[in-house]
Amino acid sequence: MQTRTLGRTGRTVSVIGLGTWQLGADWGEVDEDDALAVLDAAFASGVTFFDTADVYGDGRSEAFIGRWLVDHPEANVTVATKMGRRMPQEHENYSLEHFRAWTDRSRANLGVDTLDLVQLHCPPTSVYSDDRVFDALDTLVAEGAIASYGVSVEKVEEALAAIARPHVASVQIILNAFRLKPLDEVLPAAREAGVGIIARVPLASGLLSGRYTLDTRFAANDHRSFNRHGESFDVGETFSGVDYATGVRAAGEFTELARAAAPQATPAQVALAWIAAQDGVSSVIPGARNPEQARANAGAGSLELPAGFDDAVRELYDREIRAQVHERW
Ligand SMILES: NC(=O)c1ccc[n+]([C@@H]2O[C@H](COP(=O)([O-])OP(=O)(O)OC[C@H]3O[C@@H](n4cnc5c(N)ncnc54)[C@H](OP(=O)(O)O)[C@@H]3O)[C@@H](O)[C@H]2O)c1
Repeated sequence: MQTRTLGRTGRTVSVIGLGTWQLGADWGEVDEDDALAVLDAAFASGVTFFDTADVYGDGRSEAFIGRWLVDHPEANVTVATKMGRRMPQEHENYSLEHFRAWTDRSRANLGVDTLDLVQLHCPPTSVYSDDRVFDALDTLVAEGAIASYGVSVEKVEEALAAIARPHVASVQIILNAFRLKPLDEVLPAAREAGVGIIARVPLASGLLSGRYTLDTRFAANDHRSFNRHGESFDVGETFSGVDYATGVRAAGEFTELARAAAPQATPAQVALAWIAAQDGVSSVIPGARNPEQARANAGAGSLELPAGFDDAVRELYDREIRAQVHERW
């Protein structure tokens, strides 16, 4: 497993991390045994970076990680959580008073005095230009409630605004074979500023595994059923904002490219290794619903791809995907 420095946190993390939204809610049922087994499998496979949020199952995901940390006191794992969605995402709610309450709750859930990294969870765009918000985050650092802060963003312009803030340690953004826009400006700006990049939704909600067909059915409590058109939150978080039929077709082509490039690997592993190979990416955080997925994903942390694969990914994106997503996010 390769390791990298996570931007201004200064912490060393595995290039393949673990997304733990699945251990909270919104992805069908993941029971307690599977949730803890996912954390075990990821760590045993070299993963040292977990991404969670206070709203994933209303703290369920954080609480599982907290339990796991109690059982693994020596594990040098960095845990990033998020805050800001326990109330309506209105600018005035991004206050020091709320930040204190939210981080206190996450500290209790995770069982730590100081949170390693807290990310604003896709705040409204106006928040990025409000000095008071970032002063409040600096106060949390000074008080010892958090070691570092970052921002999870929806749009490229928001990423650039966050990177321009002097104490933002990391930016989390959707980056995958169906979302290439961050490659143009965000990664170069982050490298220049020393800000870490956390690549989320790396499998386009599983599409890039190549397993889904037009007949695949997702559970009613899975956002791939209930948020296909952005009914509950930004549609870009579901299948990367690509309509399902287009996504399945393009994923079929991606699967062929991946099998030709690395016959020993699965398309999902190739999708993750391709992101990890982009200069400026600190960690890629695939979500896993079971230990087998967690182990397989970690395996992408040592996979090398042949020259030419990158061009093929860009050609597929330009032909099939760009028109649906490039200008929007
Ligand atoms: N706003 C935000 O800040 C935000 C938004 C979204 C996500 N995130 C973070 O980013 C993480 C990753 O994004 P995501 O979970 O939305 O999407 P993702 O990682 O692109 O997709 C996860 C899904 O891919 C499938 N999968 C995973 N590993 C696989 C493997 N080895 N082989 C085949 N299929 C595999 C599983 O689908 P099945 O369920 O069909 O098995 C899994 O549920 C989240 O867990 C969360 O921590 C943050």
